[in-house]
Amino acid sequence: MAIRKIVTEGDPGLARKCREVKEINERIITLLDDMKETMELEFGVGLAAPQVGVGRRICIAYPTQDELLELINPELLEKEGEQISVEGCLSVPGYIGDVIRPKRVKIKYLDRTGKEIIREFTDFGAIVVSHEMDHLDGILYIEKATNVREAGDQTEINIEGEK
Ligand code: NI
Repeated sequence: MAIRKIVTEGDPGLARKCREVKEINERIITLLDDMKETMELEFGVGLAAPQVGVGRRICIAYPTQDELLELINPELLEKEGEQISVEGCLSVPGYIGDVIRPKRVKIKYLDRTGKEIIREFTDFGAIVVSHEMDHLDGILYIEKATNVREAGDQTEINIEGEK
């Protein structure tokens, strides 16, 4: 495994729609492993492939502290409700902002073995999954957020910024 460099706001790769993964080969598995190591080094709760310079539809997240989720080609099937989240992003270091996210999402994705999975996430899980899936469409949270401000002492919930 290896640490990958996280690109930041202004990198054109963060604004592009990522391409589907056609085949889960060794390069994809290595990417997933590297993303996990990179995210954990930065104490993140989520990371998307374009943040490490790879324009593929892959992201990882901790919907709870105990479960690492690996999403390949995730698709939103349903969303319901609203909640306000206070978010940060490893690609926008030092800032947080308020974002309206769905309260519940239902998604379809492939795991690293290529198995198709349909699952629902609520509350924090819905926030982190939505934030990471936005990255795959070239969307940063700061485009949706209000009251973007310096993160300060990070006492608030901070997506990607603090586990
Ligand atoms: Ni992010």
